[in-house]
Amino acid sequence: MTALTDLDLKGKRVLVRVDFNVPIDDNCHVGDDTRMRESLPTINYLRKQGCKVVLMSHLGRPKGSYNAKYSLAPVAKHLQTLLGEDVVFSPDCIGREAEQMTSELKAGQVMLLENLRFYPMEENNDKEFAHKLARLADVYVNDAFGTAHRAHASTVGVTAFLPSCAGFLMEKEIANLSRVTNAPEHPFVAIIGGAKVSDKYSVIENLLGKVDKLLIGGGMANTFLAAMGDIMQKSLVEHDKVELARKMLEMPLAKEKLVLPVDLVAADGFSNDAKVRVVPTYAIPDDWMALDIGTETIELFKEHLKDAKTIIWNGPLGVFEMDKFSHGTMEIAQAVADSEAFSVIGGGDSLAAIGRCNAKNKISHLSTGGGASLEFLSGKILPGVAVLTGK
Ligand code: 3PG
Repeated sequence: MTALTDLDLKGKRVLVRVDFNVPIDDNCHVGDDTRMRESLPTINYLRKQGCKVVLMSHLGRPKGSYNAKYSLAPVAKHLQTLLGEDVVFSPDCIGREAEQMTSELKAGQVMLLENLRFYPMEENNDKEFAHKLARLADVYVNDAFGTAHRAHASTVGVTAFLPSCAGFLMEKEIANLSRVTNAPEHPFVAIIGGAKVSDKYSVIENLLGKVDKLLIGGGMANTFLAAMGDIMQKSLVEHDKVELARKMLEMPLAKEKLVLPVDLVAADGFSNDAKVRVVPTYAIPDDWMALDIGTETIELFKEHLKDAKTIIWNGPLGVFEMDKFSHGTMEIAQAVADSEAFSVIGGGDSLAAIGRCNAKNKISHLSTGGGASLEFLSGKILPGVAVLTGK
């Protein structure tokens, strides 16, 4: 990839795609701001070069129209605190006003544009829209690793109009994740959780060709268990994906490598006050639901992690946000932290779990990308990265 330091940026207007898709609470306060902090090296470098720094990001999925709930205004305020400098906020990401505001920026000043996804053209990678973004600057920098798996106007289209390069965060992510994709030390174990198989099916399929074991937990395990004939009662199951899961389970690689839960924490309701029981996967009581992996499964997963030399983990193994069902996720988080393996964790919940164990510093690489890191690790070429390499 072309690097920031490859270009002469002194005094230029620089358009930086960041991933400031961060949690914001009802009082407009930013929650976990790791993604923002991780972009600071790029922003500060550009400020030192006397650049006029124009930041752009999406926030949530507003589906192509304005929605105050998804405004980046609170993020601009938070950034101001992180930088210790005023941040100009542009209420639109394209158009005459944004262009005017950009031209009035002083050297070293930072501006954040309003949510790109208020325009449907962003996600459609619309050429005209990309051109309008490009009019705001002389150079384009992509530091939004977390969005690099999306071929959008701000990650791909805009590169047709401006000299383009990768920011420091993008470089760091690719360097660490490439260590896993290029020459992983074996045994290589992946842990994949989260609610839905549909989100991660192709990633699981790709990973099977690379890992030694692939441990599956969380809601998505239910769909696989249903495909094996277990009666999942009221558990979350993607019924329209059961057939797909069955086909995967018949693949020789899956037979050899997929590890599914053998027991589950079943509950009589979706609540922290529910009655719970640890049961084999085939014995969920009538009308109950599975909300976490069980004790035997935790031991089974730990056994596979014990000798691993490379571990990747994405997605919670139960309904982690409720204390009663966070045990599986927390135990596995601790096991990953205790391992000597080169470990990579991505995805908000897995990162939160490691944070709760106070073990962030025991993980080799904490990725700011959830979907992006998983797709990269499964061997896909990310469109936002490809355009920076010419591939
Ligand atoms: C993420 O949070 O994974 C990235 O910001 C991408 O968001 P998206 O899944 O809405 O494209």
